[in-house]
Amino acid sequence: CRVVILVSGRGSNMQALVQAASRQAMPVQVCAVISNQMDAPALQWAREQGLRTASLPHRNYQSREQFDEALANEIEAHEPDYVLLAGFMRVLTDGFVRRFHGRLINIHPSLLPAFPGLNTHRRALDAGVAWHGCTVHFVTPEVDEGPIIAQWAVPVLANDNEETLAMRVLQSEHRLYAQVLSWLTQGRVSLDALGKVYLTDVG
Ligand code: GRF
Repeated sequence: CRVVILVSGRGSNMQALVQAASRQAMPVQVCAVISNQMDAPALQWAREQGLRTASLPHRNYQSREQFDEALANEIEAHEPDYVLLAGFMRVLTDGFVRRFHGRLINIHPSLLPAFPGLNTHRRALDAGVAWHGCTVHFVTPEVDEGPIIAQWAVPVLANDNEETLAMRVLQSEHRLYAQVLSWLTQGRVSLDALGKVYLTDVG
């Protein structure tokens, strides 16, 4: 199974994916880590691991369509089975999303459909929810709305602030994304023509 990982920043989810793949000896090859930010710490780490990296600064492109076209071409050069968004902070065009239909996956720091978009931890605290968490889902043109593959819930504790809650959710993100990657490599995740996700034998 060949994957390309897209990042914009810190890259802790990317690290969790790469480390889980090697620790669990998953049959997966991380073909490239690609960023829209040249100075993303994620790229530095990936290079140190000997992974192939590329950066496409989005400001070098005149339009969102042109950037997405260049990004799609760069990705396709690696012939990935899956493209994993790991803190990739750019909204992708419909054309891009359609081109990678059924192969483009994202992780979002909330239990979707609750709290799509940004500042999810602040909003969860303000809403007073008892449970928060993360979601791995296929990407569709509507941001944070694609078919859900898996979720991990964490409790919101009485003395939580944005930082402590974010940390607990982030740890769950690392576990969940690694778990989903392992299912993908085993061919256990499928998306049918109606856009429904089927998981087989995932215990
Ligand atoms: C994560 O919370 C992810 O869910 C969100 O952005 C954050 C990226 O963190 N989309 P990292 O770069 O993986 O450390």
